[in-house]
Amino acid sequence: MMNSKVAALDMAFVRAQYPETCWEWSFFDNAGGSYVPNPVIDRITTYMRETQVQPGPHFPVAAQAQAHMDDSHARMAAMIGADKGEVLITPSTSYSVYILANALRPAWSDGDEIIVAVQNHEANSGPWRRLQEFGLKILDWPVHPETGSLDPRLLDSLLTERTRLVAFPHVSNILGEINDVTEITRKVHDAGALVCVDAVAFAPHRAIDVKAWDLDFYLFSFYKIFGPHMGCLYGKKDLLIDAENQGHYFFDDDDIAHKLNPAGPQHEMIASLAGITDYLDVLAEHHLSNLPYDPRARAAAVFDMIAQHEATLAHKIVEFLNTKRNVRLIGPTTGAADQRVATFSFTVDKQKSAEIPPLAAAEWVGLSNGHFYAKRFLEAVGISDADDGVVRASLAHYTSEDDVEKLISVLDRVL
Ligand SMILES: Cc1ncc(COP(=O)(O)O)c(C=O)c1O
Repeated sequence: MMNSKVAALDMAFVRAQYPETCWEWSFFDNAGGSYVPNPVIDRITTYMRETQVQPGPHFPVAAQAQAHMDDSHARMAAMIGADKGEVLITPSTSYSVYILANALRPAWSDGDEIIVAVQNHEANSGPWRRLQEFGLKILDWPVHPETGSLDPRLLDSLLTERTRLVAFPHVSNILGEINDVTEITRKVHDAGALVCVDAVAFAPHRAIDVKAWDLDFYLFSFYKIFGPHMGCLYGKKDLLIDAENQGHYFFDDDDIAHKLNPAGPQHEMIASLAGITDYLDVLAEHHLSNLPYDPRARAAAVFDMIAQHEATLAHKIVEFLNTKRNVRLIGPTTGAADQRVATFSFTVDKQKSAEIPPLAAAEWVGLSNGHFYAKRFLEAVGISDADDGVVRASLAHYTSEDDVEKLISVLDRVL
């Protein structure tokens, strides 16, 4: 149930925070990557203009560069309720899982088990499956063949005393359905195993609280939450310390930022991450009369408005798609904010998915199609031509009612 006290997003104000060119068409590929607001762009340019040196303590400009990066890192940690030392900023989520799988493997033995949800994007699947080469056993956590949902009860028969980790998405990038991360994590912990949760499709839509949810590893990508192309890996401190060094031999076990990021830091991009909280702050200051001081509480208040706005639009899209008898909507047939985010995937009887985005593009509506790297999942729900895949329309909080009306009217003609 939506809280009636949540303020409505002032769409003109929200949109004024982005370059004007963003609004020349109706954009529905936000799950591919979100728009980037001016505060993030400003931080990148300021960093590159003013601090063109290797960051470090040795002279004032270097110290300033370091301070910008440290500030971003601390703000991202605070935004998700973590300590700074528990958050790694990496080149991407795919990279984070790859490094994590290799860093955890040495602690596991032949015959130990990893459960991998078939609902995953390949980023949280392939790196775990590859550990079979080292004697690990992989068990699939299947999805419902029609709805695609992930049933936590199925875990009861999969978890054993040999289970070491369960890898699953907080939200599928195809379904938009929100998995009950706390219930699943509790079950997995009761069995003595760890969770690795892919939150890439969740993070643009709801606030995160890694401590309250008792997560072990939690990942998302900044380019889906209004930032640059980088990944965020949260891990409980002791687990990160125990993970094996994947970098140069001289990094200590507690030098998490270096030992688990052999790529090294992308300075200007890290510095720009502070722009994400600048942006959330601007939205908070504009909309909220009682401004929370704590950064996580502030982000949570902004995301309440985002959830409300997106749910209103989601209801309209679901209502429309439900009237189309030749359409298979894969995912919840509701717009309810506690059940789904506003990402919609569907197939159309006797029509290739690839035919639809060009028809929409001709009317300045941006859609996409394919398997979106969730190929195993599409096959599991009976989509045999996974390359053609589904048509996906994904919204963000800056999507307007006009955009949605345009989408519906285009689809009405095309379907
Ligand atoms: C659900 C999900 N997980 C993981 C990824 C991979 O993220 P990255 O591009 O940062 O590796 C994506 C990218 O689209 C995604 O949608």
